[in-house]
Amino acid sequence: MRIGIYPGSFDPMTIGHLDILKEASTLFDTIYIAVLCNSAKNPVFSVEERTEMIRKVIVAEGIENAVCESFDGLLVDFARKKGASFIVRGLRATSDFEYEFQIDAVNRHLEPRIKTIYFMASPEHSFLSSSNVREMGHWGGDITGLVPEVIRTTISERLLKK
Ligand code: COA
Repeated sequence: MRIGIYPGSFDPMTIGHLDILKEASTLFDTIYIAVLCNSAKNPVFSVEERTEMIRKVIVAEGIENAVCESFDGLLVDFARKKGASFIVRGLRATSDFEYEFQIDAVNRHLEPRIKTIYFMASPEHSFLSSSNVREMGHWGGDITGLVPEVIRTTISERLLKK
């Protein structure tokens, strides 16, 4: 059984994350979307909101082998618990490389048997990040096409209230 983990803050999930998830889902028997309970990043959406939204997207997109769970602590511990051999990350631009290089080095040190594989984000979404969605949404900007449609209204309404 080939198991992958796609980790992140997903605060909130964007269409760029969905691109990566769709690609990854074709490679694994099960792909876990692992939502980090990261109080240090001061997330706008609670971990429950983030996981619930991702689960809605999984159903709407019919990605049958995807499972969304939250985690805290070390990513490699979560990966070991799930029996995963691969971590999936997305790369949008060369600026992501440095950050990913560091995460990979730490994870390799902690658990050399778990490999990280990278998918290139599609060029039309390379500018996209959760923080620019949060900013647009907060000021009432239109986020259509930037987040999965099934969670767009939930995200917009929640960000306006922030
Ligand atoms: N499309 C859109 N945005 C994307 C994206 C894509 N394909 N890929 C990354 N991003 C954005 C995110 O939206 C986020 O944007 P923001 O900073 O504006 O909110 C940013 O890139 C990085 O977020 P994310 O990919 O969610 O990473 P992260 O830094 O929040 O979390 C973990 C990275 C979860 C992998 C890492 O922190 C971790 O493993 N933590 C657990 C502790 C641990 O094991 N530490 C050791 C390893 S460092």
